[in-house]
Amino acid sequence: APDDTVSLDALGLAITLTAGPTREPLDPVRYLTNHSSGKMGYALAAAAARRGARVRLISGPVNLPTPAGVERIDVESTNEMYEAARQSAIDSDIFIGCAAVADYRAERFSEHKIKKTSGDEALELRLVKNPDIVAAIAVAEPRPFVVGFAAETRDVESYARDKLVRKNLDMIVANDVSQAGLGFGADENAALLLWRDTTSESGRLELPPQSKATLADAIITTVMERFHAKQR
Ligand code: CTP
Ligand code: CA
Repeated sequence: APDDTVSLDALGLAITLTAGPTREPLDPVRYLTNHSSGKMGYALAAAAARRGARVRLISGPVNLPTPAGVERIDVESTNEMYEAARQSAIDSDIFIGCAAVADYRAERFSEHKIKKTSGDEALELRLVKNPDIVAAIAVAEPRPFVVGFAAETRDVESYARDKLVRKNLDMIVANDVSQAGLGFGADENAALLLWRDTTSESGRLELPPQSKATLADAIITTVMERFHAKQR
């Protein structure tokens, strides 16, 4: 939509988002991460700011400019993202967890570079589970309206609905990451939005493949509708 018709349905609301990958250090020169580009989270932050929200974007390492009017907090590890997100969620109306958070980190960080040891053809790395950021925010009290994402390669709707309930979310944005040219790193994406049905409404909306910018706008429209419906 041209800028003069932008809806101000988020005017005055505080929205926190997470975006990008997290990075788990192994030693001073190495880390574990994933292919998230951050594009979807940055597009959502830009869309929310255009609608009048005060937006805080907690970002893993990405190669993207900060959207206009957005406050950006850079983090690397999941634990850093967890601390920043929990702090920011305290005074937020809406929390959107779009980051591709590393599920595991190295059990211990090696102060010195891990060396090859002669004779060893294999190296064992023990990983431990990271905290679940979006789930922790969704069980805090008081809590913002909480939106999660679900990246799935099969049974998209049933896995996503399971995450919606298990993590106590208000809404979930499911992506089929097995579709070529969509999602991770791409400029286009499609999504299935699911929410918990307290009214007679269906609790489900399919958004067809489109640019991440227009998809972000459509996602924020539904987030704002569900948020305002919950306040009534
Ligand atoms: N998430 C999070 N903290 C984690 C892992 C995931 O906040 N440690 C959030 C993501 O930002 C996303 C949602 O949880 O909003 C779902 O992420 P996803 O990776 O699809 O789900 P997981 O619960 O990690 O399950 P799995 O990877 O096994 O499918
Ligand atoms: Ca995961």
